[in-house]
Amino acid sequence: MDRGLPHGRAGWQDAETALNVGGITVAFDSETAKRFVLENTSVLTPPHVPEIRLRLADEAHALWLKTEEELERIGLPPPFWAFAWAGGQGLARHVLDHPELVRGKRVFDLATGSGLVAIAAKTAGATQVVANDVDPFCEAAVGLNSQVNAVSLRFDGNDFLASGSDLPQVDCVLAGDVFYDRMFSASAFAFLKRCADAGMRVLCGDPGRAYLPKDGLEKRAEYNIAVTRALEDSEVKHTCVWEVM
Ligand SMILES: C[S@@+](CC[C@H](N)C(=O)[O-])C[C@H]1O[C@@H](n2cnc3c(N)ncnc32)[C@H](O)[C@@H]1O
Repeated sequence: MDRGLPHGRAGWQDAETALNVGGITVAFDSETAKRFVLENTSVLTPPHVPEIRLRLADEAHALWLKTEEELERIGLPPPFWAFAWAGGQGLARHVLDHPELVRGKRVFDLATGSGLVAIAAKTAGATQVVANDVDPFCEAAVGLNSQVNAVSLRFDGNDFLASGSDLPQVDCVLAGDVFYDRMFSASAFAFLKRCADAGMRVLCGDPGRAYLPKDGLEKRAEYNIAVTRALEDSEVKHTCVWEVM
């Protein structure tokens, strides 16, 4: 499903600079976003990455109960940043268990969401980490989550998948759970391939999403990751870490 969430429900098109909350349009600003993240999450531990703590939503939060359609009606993009997706958990686990992949290196985390993979890279010894996402709420979530884990990251909200965009100047590119939507997957993989062709190491974490590319990937690791049935229609997701060749 185009622009769908990993679990297949309808998604959001673009980040906005105004929010419509309960019928009232309010200007989007970083304080509003930070307050929204704080009010709708608690500090929790992703099951497969217990050394990292994140502000996440669960059954205790109203955000958890809202469908994408309800969120769209009140002007909010789907809260990808409020969950630790299986692909991100697998990739973060791999980076923490193999710190030599990122130690002393400059790292770019495409589609960072909560910042999970970026935080793992910094924790594993990367010198500089850029956490990239086009959803402006991610900047607030990543800021709060990097504080919780006492790491410093740089957030970049530019769309590196847009045509004509430059490649990031880094040694390693990471991408957790980006192959759930046809268009996004195609543009993300084209970007990741360009990075690999330019000499960067490129790793992706993916739990067998619908648009995982069939060629050009080499498997590095496999994990069984506990996930939430309400989000994934399953309790465990078999997740692989792939290197883009
Ligand atoms: C399923 S979430 C994965 C988040 C995180 N990597 C993880 O595994 O927990 C996908 C993320 O892709 C982001 N995204 C969508 N289009 C993007 C683009 N063109 N550039 C960067 N991020 C994008 C969404 O905003 C969302 O945060």
